[in-house]
Amino acid sequence: MKSQDIRKQFLQFFESKGHLIVPSAPIVLKDDPTLMFNNSGMAQFKEYFLGNATPKSNRIADTQKCLRVSGKHNDLEDVGFDTYHHTMFEMLGNWSFGDYFKKEAIDWAWEFLTEVLKLDKDRLYVSVFEGNEAENVPFDQEAFDLWKQFVSEDRIIKGNKKDNFWEMGDQGPCGPCSEIHIDLRSDEERAKVSGFSLVNADHPQVVEIWNNVFMEFNRKADGSLEKLPAQHVDTGMGFERLCMAMQNVTSNYDTDVFTPLIEKVEQITGLKYTSNEVKNISEEQNKTNIAIRVIVDHVRAVAFAIADGQLPSNTGAGYVIRRILRRAIRYGFTFLGTKEPFIYQLVEVLANQMGEFFPEIRKQQALVTNVIREEEASFLRTLDQGLQLLDNVIADTKGKQVDGAKAFELYDTFGFPIDLTALILRERGFELDEAGFEKAMQEQKNRSRAASEVSTDDWKILVEGNTETFVGYDQTENDVKITRIRKVDSKKDGILYQIVLDATPFYPEGGGQVGDKGTLVSANESIEIIDTKKENNLILHIAKKLPENVSASFVAKVNTDLRTASSKNHSATHLMHLALRTILGTHVEQKGSLVNPNYLRFDFSHFSKVTDEEIKQVEDFVNQRIQEQIPLIERRSIPIQQALDEGAMALFGEKYGDNVRAIKFGDSMELCGGIHVANTANIWSFKITSEGAVAAGIRRIEAITGDGVRAYFANQENTLAEIKETLKNPQDTIKAVISLQDENAKLKKQVEQLLKDKAKGLKGDLASQIKEINGVKFLATQVDLDANGAKDLAYELGNNETNLFLVLATATDDKPMLTCYISKELVDAKGLNAGQVVRELGKYIQGGGGGQPFFATAGGKNAAGIKEALEKAVDFVK
Ligand code: ALA
Repeated sequence: MKSQDIRKQFLQFFESKGHLIVPSAPIVLKDDPTLMFNNSGMAQFKEYFLGNATPKSNRIADTQKCLRVSGKHNDLEDVGFDTYHHTMFEMLGNWSFGDYFKKEAIDWAWEFLTEVLKLDKDRLYVSVFEGNEAENVPFDQEAFDLWKQFVSEDRIIKGNKKDNFWEMGDQGPCGPCSEIHIDLRSDEERAKVSGFSLVNADHPQVVEIWNNVFMEFNRKADGSLEKLPAQHVDTGMGFERLCMAMQNVTSNYDTDVFTPLIEKVEQITGLKYTSNEVKNISEEQNKTNIAIRVIVDHVRAVAFAIADGQLPSNTGAGYVIRRILRRAIRYGFTFLGTKEPFIYQLVEVLANQMGEFFPEIRKQQALVTNVIREEEASFLRTLDQGLQLLDNVIADTKGKQVDGAKAFELYDTFGFPIDLTALILRERGFELDEAGFEKAMQEQKNRSRAASEVSTDDWKILVEGNTETFVGYDQTENDVKITRIRKVDSKKDGILYQIVLDATPFYPEGGGQVGDKGTLVSANESIEIIDTKKENNLILHIAKKLPENVSASFVAKVNTDLRTASSKNHSATHLMHLALRTILGTHVEQKGSLVNPNYLRFDFSHFSKVTDEEIKQVEDFVNQRIQEQIPLIERRSIPIQQALDEGAMALFGEKYGDNVRAIKFGDSMELCGGIHVANTANIWSFKITSEGAVAAGIRRIEAITGDGVRAYFANQENTLAEIKETLKNPQDTIKAVISLQDENAKLKKQVEQLLKDKAKGLKGDLASQIKEINGVKFLATQVDLDANGAKDLAYELGNNETNLFLVLATATDDKPMLTCYISKELVDAKGLNAGQVVRELGKYIQGGGGGQPFFATAGGKNAAGIKEALEKAVDFVK
């Protein structure tokens, strides 16, 4: 069965069991400080388990793009070495939110695997939680009994907390789980050693395929477990492993999920990959296989992350993506001999393969390809530089061991991979001081950990229930009660409090727009709100201190000056987005946006510089719509399909609900949750202040509106006034500047002519000073010229004289310089060398230099040494 069909079968099966099928959430997470990437199917449903939000159906199924490369679940370093771990993988999952529990989950898992997919029951093993006294969670008798209907007891493993108690992270929903493992070994091997003993033993052909988690608890910040308000089911099946089982192969990389990518790598490199069935391969072939697996695995993670809006960068999630791509480049560089970008060529294969089910990869194909190619080119340059630096390190090394701290510097400052350093050293007969490297690494980790440490307390609930409403589209003030508070202590920001209100007018940072600031005012006090953010489904008001009486009634007041300024920039962003798509083309897609009270910043896909003419057109386009006084049409909640049908623009990597808010100004319509002006006239004016590149194929424009434009023009006017004043207030400023330039050019010409005349005079002067010593025509003297003038003069004298030995000293701006010219006959006959002359005489002016035997120069620092240098020159001819 083809992988495409396996995926479809799963979704159809759970649809037939009353599940709503939803699309995969973007791989990159927003609004969740505890997680950078989606690391499991359940991440997007976390709030349903906690009871903070209500799902649209209590039975849901999907396939989720997951990335396990950071945090609690991190497989990165295994990838490539084994045949069944990945950076990005698809997780097939079915969920019950307070609906069915263990019985149906187990029944359906068994039915799907053995009756729909017809996997051999004889090859399946299951595990249940053995219980844990310290956690006060008992043995899962219920799951055990349910499994006994299908398999004999000798196929049920009782697993410990590590294997059979699933947690998403250090905090959050969790519970005992029951896994299904499959034994894909040959009948012969199975007869020899029972599969039971190999479950959870890292055997590459006895692997877990499906995990059924029975969510009952929430792990709190203090480490304790609390019962969730309801019982849920969360399951996750490894799609690539299921494909391996279904396609009768023993490696995920031998399934049709990977073979097209592998074939492309083979075609590009001319190397061959051997399938897992080929045994006894050479050490060389093994290395090739590992490198190819690394590359075809990593390109998927990187391509989908970029398609979902996460560009490689130097911080946070972007840095993780950059590191994954660099790992792939490095394996190609070292083991496949690829010295030019090539991974980008795999994107097309990937788009053809996955594009039907994940349209984002097809739609963003050009961008993804470009970004990967640029990243490859730049990292290959780094590798080149790193190799040179490593040469220097090796040259400086006494003995056979290379200093670990130096290797760390290469790694840390230049991104040169440590295993590559170790490999090259080994090849050259050196070894790396690994302990020294580890020590330097650890020290740096400690430094950055100390800088980024954050501890978050559990919520203190003041009012039960999680009904928080946002009233900020209609109001900037509201009577409120505090419902919960939490303390956050971070090294970076110190102690801050997060306050949740029952009904807030504060807009939380989102969609590029910064969070509102303002105050919480009660009869007795006023608390400043320094920022507002959204986390999961809660709106957090950030304050440096808590009110004395947290149960009092408050008025929440938004700072409207700041908010109004932001709203102008936000509405202008929409108009500019449309302008760019109209003027540059519909390939323009939003790639990032920042809207604050001072300015707007907009990143978008476009492959060349936006010309001055285009910038002007964009400004005119937006200002035209400001003049037209177009009223805002806000559709606060319409079905997403309807909004898209009406032409609303949606963003990749953004998760939308069934009902969305649409913002319309004439022909501009976007899905957006932000704050906008009531009429485009309120923007007042729009001006682009900068345009530039941020990454391959991504441009950035910054612009201002409203008072910002007023200030900008006032500033321009001041500058102009100052220029006028400097020019003594001429009638026509431009004419005055032009005549200054003309005059300047004339003067320059005159100076040049004067200098030429002076050199001519000097030449005659010097020629008369030449003395003959031992058959050499000798002159050493200082001239009042610059270095170029001295050179010209030396050549001219040299052309007229034979057997000339000439040293000229100059000192422009107190920088001494020696110029030495020796006629060719002298060089040949007497072995005189101008390079050597300037090196030796250079010592007197504290400098050095060099050149050819007949002509050389040396610059120095000590002009006072010129006299002595010239006196010593004669020694060369004596
Ligand atoms: N959330 C569970 C897992 O990721 C299903 O294994």
